[in-house]
Amino acid sequence: MKTLQDKYQELKKRNQEAEQGGGVARIEKHKKAGKLTARERIDLLLDAGTFVEMDKYVTHNINDFGLADKKIPGDGVVAGFGKIDGRLVYVFSQDFTVFGGSLSRTNANKIVKIMDLAMKNGAPVIGLNDSGGARIQEGVASLAGYADIFHRNVMASGVIPQISLILGPCAGGAVYSPALTDFILMTKQNSYMFITGPDVIKTVTHEEVTKDELGGAVTHNSKSGVAHLMAEDEAQAIMMIRELISFIPSNNMEKPPFVLTADPIDRINHNLDEIVPVDPNRPYDIKEIITGIVDDGIFYEVQETYAQNMVIGYGRMGGKTVAFIANQPNFLAGVLDIDASIKAARFVRFADAFNIPIVTLVDVPGFLPGVAQEFGGIIKHGAKLLYAFSEATVPKITLITRKAYGGAYDVMNSKHIGADYNLAYPTAEIAVMGVDGAVKILYRNVTDETKLQEIKSDYTEKFANPYKAAELGYIDEIILPRNTRKRLIQILEMTQNKKVENPSKKHGNIPL
Ligand code: HXC
Repeated sequence: MKTLQDKYQELKKRNQEAEQGGGVARIEKHKKAGKLTARERIDLLLDAGTFVEMDKYVTHNINDFGLADKKIPGDGVVAGFGKIDGRLVYVFSQDFTVFGGSLSRTNANKIVKIMDLAMKNGAPVIGLNDSGGARIQEGVASLAGYADIFHRNVMASGVIPQISLILGPCAGGAVYSPALTDFILMTKQNSYMFITGPDVIKTVTHEEVTKDELGGAVTHNSKSGVAHLMAEDEAQAIMMIRELISFIPSNNMEKPPFVLTADPIDRINHNLDEIVPVDPNRPYDIKEIITGIVDDGIFYEVQETYAQNMVIGYGRMGGKTVAFIANQPNFLAGVLDIDASIKAARFVRFADAFNIPIVTLVDVPGFLPGVAQEFGGIIKHGAKLLYAFSEATVPKITLITRKAYGGAYDVMNSKHIGADYNLAYPTAEIAVMGVDGAVKILYRNVTDETKLQEIKSDYTEKFANPYKAAELGYIDEIILPRNTRKRLIQILEMTQNKKVENPSKKHGNIPL
């Protein structure tokens, strides 16, 4: 009969086996490529000593293709729960050293299990993805595992935050689960996402493309818009996720965490008076206004290199998280185009789902005209942003810093689509369009230059200010830039118990 010590020894041995993953040689190769192991990643991500691993002894149940004697405890995924800054999170980390981190039926069950727990207990799921996709040897059983995860991703959407780090060559199904989550972070090295790799593309379409060009971090952060965050390396990536978690609540029934600050809530910032140029054609950096008003100047930007004419991200005001959405006059004059509309719309919907108040900074010359935009569906994509702002019931505050022209005035969280408080700087200009365009349409037969100048200055006098909108009650207040922080915090406090319910329905039909 085995002694107690024997039994305890067996547990130790089994744990050690599981912790070896794909074995010394594969781990060495993995590390040589500059990658951390699945367990090292979890250790970095979570508060020290808080990780509790589940299903450590799970193995696959396939006996074909020579897999009968290749059973590795854990089967290529490390899963469990732990804490970030003392707050509960669930985590899974795919181990590329075990069958390329591919998804088996049994390791999918591990992911499903923690997702179900996360939903029941109201905490985020963080996926550390490093996987070659469906485990080829398992056929449909693996596809079923993926679909089980996808379905849960969708059910969890808007209930708990879901975050994906892409830390390896993620192909096939390994990109679709992340695509259904709220945030995707990629690293500049070793991080790839594609449905099919360069070789398949070459065979099918004869296009030649490198792995990096096709699905690297830069591509997905600046071209496709699939990813939201980009890090230099894994360590930075993991720190960025810890910081992201600090801005968001654990579930849709909670408010975001409060973070104490020494930054005075009534801080006056005179520098802000000098940022917006009087000349409407001169660019400036809208981020200077954001960093000038948030607590300690800390702004966590999301999708920084995609559709840079729109800036989105989180900051805190008086210790509370705010979602900022802002046109960027420094890039394409802050125009609204397809990419900017989609980028902002999704961000608005996350904020609304997770009780994060929205502050919108407006300096927009309108929608971008052009054949490419029209053929690309600017009508339906612009409508996404209109839809997202309109349906959002969290506190919504808008500040027009300069231009608010045409449909873009309506779209950018105007009073008419439900903003709670609308402010403007004295530099604001609210009109159907800019002076040159307006005069060209209304006075196309006038050729006398002096007369045209008179008409233009009359138009400018009437519309190049915020007072007409304020007279109509569409702007609640006109403030000096220096007072922005103080006033926004007062309004955030005034609206913090806002309760609005949209009409009951199964769900709306956002223009996709
Ligand atoms: C089983 C896999 C695997 C997979 C990799 N491996 N992918 N095993 N199923 N899907 C194994 C390899 O055989 C190898 O085992 C080890 O993992 C490391 O892989 P390498 O190819 O040596 O690594 P690397 O050169 O870095 O290339 C990584 C890779 C490549 C780009 C991910 O392995 C690859 O292209 N894999 C297949 C990707 C794919 O097509 N997946 C199926 C997608 S379909 P050994 O024993 O040699 O170390 C899908 C359907 C879901 O996912 C659909 C949802 C909508």
